[in-house]
Amino acid sequence: MAAIGQRGWHQVICEIRHSFCAEFVLAGRGDAWRSTARGGDLRCDILWIISQPIAMLDDPVLVNDWHVVARASDLRSADGAGDVRAARLLGRDIVLWRSPECLCAWQDLCLHRGAKLSGGRVVNDCLVCPYHGWNYDGSGRCVRIPAQPSQPPPARARATTFRVVEKYGLVWVCLGTPVEDVPAFAEWDDDAFRTVDSGPYLFQAHGPRVIENFLDVGHFPFVHAGFLGDPAHTEVGEYEVETTSDGVIARDIRVWQPDPDGTGRSAEVSYTYRVLRPLTAYFLKSHQEQRFAIFNSVTPVDETRSASWMIMALNYSPETSDEQLRRYQDVVSAQDVPIVESQRPELLPLDLQAELHLRSDRTAIAYRRWLTKIGLRYGTA
Ligand code: FES
Ligand code: FE
Repeated sequence: MAAIGQRGWHQVICEIRHSFCAEFVLAGRGDAWRSTARGGDLRCDILWIISQPIAMLDDPVLVNDWHVVARASDLRSADGAGDVRAARLLGRDIVLWRSPECLCAWQDLCLHRGAKLSGGRVVNDCLVCPYHGWNYDGSGRCVRIPAQPSQPPPARARATTFRVVEKYGLVWVCLGTPVEDVPAFAEWDDDAFRTVDSGPYLFQAHGPRVIENFLDVGHFPFVHAGFLGDPAHTEVGEYEVETTSDGVIARDIRVWQPDPDGTGRSAEVSYTYRVLRPLTAYFLKSHQEQRFAIFNSVTPVDETRSASWMIMALNYSPETSDEQLRRYQDVVSAQDVPIVESQRPELLPLDLQAELHLRSDRTAIAYRRWLTKIGLRYGTA
């Protein structure tokens, strides 16, 4: 048994109110401990820590959050048929499927002999396993076993289902119980803006490093010279950062940019950044009446891989095609990938003594402090 107070995440049991193996997560750093119950509460007197720290991918903050796993248009449903595809989230294999009746996200596993359901097909609003043809309806229940068509399938023949929603043209999955809605993206519903998706951009890196790169303006003149920055304009001016219970807001960061949006017209722009969730952030870039926003949600694919899904929104330049905007963002993101993948340690250090911070880094400082506060373990050290 480890002692309470040991740094990190642990599985614990409560012997007083619950039987053994009732499971909780106790999280904290230093003195800031908090608890998250799985299937119960923590009103009890005695806790014993019984196991080694929980794997990073079981981080309750992320398990109970929404993550993008596909573009909605990738899952088409046509004329009574449907579509099936595989995805991966927090190290779990997921099957996504759509019929005219439903959109489903399940563990990618058939209960019969463990075949991947993502190899199957949709027939009559059921997902049919590719191995022996078991039929699962939209609730995850097996409703037909072809080898024994006259016998009702056993009650245990039920897929493990996850919550799934479609928003902003993306498919979002939560593996646990979502504590919040999918983050807001105001420009999506604003008729003054058109939206263009881009990505996903794949990083061999953890999500917090990817998000912090997204929040960082100091790298523009070096990594994105000619696009978002210029080596002759390197200074980052003063700006304000506010941290709320919902995240971080950094306002009015002024930057001169040779080509701020792919239209090829230079401008001094003002950024407002928002960290909306541990792995979802947003910026709004303003120049006179022009507004250009990017909503960026980074999916923790597994221990080492992340996928950055972006949606651009702009209220000007109708002559610039969606494809031009996408190509521009592809170039900018391709410039970021090798830098982020090169960063060591791979895990974002939440101890502010571990790396050097400047005043111009205060968005990143606020982000790290906020991650500490909410107890994110994945991708952090
Ligand atoms: Fe799926 Fe047998 S493994 S039906
Ligand atoms: Fe960048």
